[in-house]
Amino acid sequence: MRRIDLRSDTFTLPTKEMMDSIPSAELGDDVEGEDPTVNQLQAIAAEMFGTEASLLVASGTMGNLVSLMSHCQRGDEVLMESEAHIYYYELGGISALVGAIPSLIPGTRGKFSPEQLEEHIRIPDLHYPISRLLCIENTHNRGGGSVWTPAEVAAVAKVAHDHGLKVHCDGARIFNAAVALDVDVKDYMRHLDSLSFCLSKGLSCPVGSMVVGDAEFIEQAKRNRKMVGGGMRQAGIIAAPGIVGLQKMVGRLRDDHSNAKRLASGLSSLTGVEVDMDAVETNIVMADITGTGMSAETCVNRLGKIGVQVFEFGIGRVRFVTHYGIDSVDVDEAVARLNRLLRQ
Ligand SMILES: Cc1ncc(COP(=O)(O)O)c(C=O)c1O
Repeated sequence: MRRIDLRSDTFTLPTKEMMDSIPSAELGDDVEGEDPTVNQLQAIAAEMFGTEASLLVASGTMGNLVSLMSHCQRGDEVLMESEAHIYYYELGGISALVGAIPSLIPGTRGKFSPEQLEEHIRIPDLHYPISRLLCIENTHNRGGGSVWTPAEVAAVAKVAHDHGLKVHCDGARIFNAAVALDVDVKDYMRHLDSLSFCLSKGLSCPVGSMVVGDAEFIEQAKRNRKMVGGGMRQAGIIAAPGIVGLQKMVGRLRDDHSNAKRLASGLSSLTGVEVDMDAVETNIVMADITGTGMSAETCVNRLGKIGVQVFEFGIGRVRFVTHYGIDSVDVDEAVARLNRLLRQ
């Protein structure tokens, strides 16, 4: 039975072209800035985002970590949405390693308004931490792949900047956002001070993320990357597939988005399964399976036994993610298998 893995776009395997790019990659010591393939990848990323510089890091978590370390001092406050990946899933690194304190803004599907942000920014006072940084997440993972528009980013960034805060974007899936709205990633970046994005999610690369920003910021991020053990020497073997990812894999994210819509409409036709179709903006589908009488845990286990892998996402909620390893036939087959399960 063909296994259909809808757990996450992190499960994507590299393309043949990516694998073929590795043996011929020119290598050097990247800690000394001498790996030509890393340098080429960093130049391509900076050019795409319209920034002075960029930096290859090991993971999205490391990208966020070194960005926060580069913006903040110990005791500073970082504002973000209450279900932000940085807060929810990064092991408390913001406190343990950056020494900053998170301030959480309750959002709707991961987004909040400029007015809400304004309310959360501290005025200067002897008793308060300094509000130093705003983090937004685009697309928002726990928000179900929701997209901030460039205008929405501009509006919150303006409030932050007017109060002297810097703005970082956890753009692990920023290309999904840009492709969904048919905008350029530069349209986001012009409002931001830094952004991290993942090569190893929808772009299907085996390893790596990038941080983009101005030259001074990236220099500081490079020092912090070294401090947390991220100086990777002949990292060209990671960068070579990264170049293929940036040059060949961005446009095809459209397929993931249309497959997500197809999946959502298939799922919502099943008895007891509810999907908010308007909330399916990119490659993530959140299904409420309460009406089937199964718990999310039971549903995930039973689907797993018939070759459909998904993640539980809170009470009665199951998350499905489309990606390079999934085509429309897989989508229809996954819906058919869930239908059979529900009829048993
Ligand atoms: C929004 C977001 N940010 C950051 C990360 C962290 O990326 P990594 O798993 O490469 O550390 C993820 C991973 O799923 C994510 O979804």
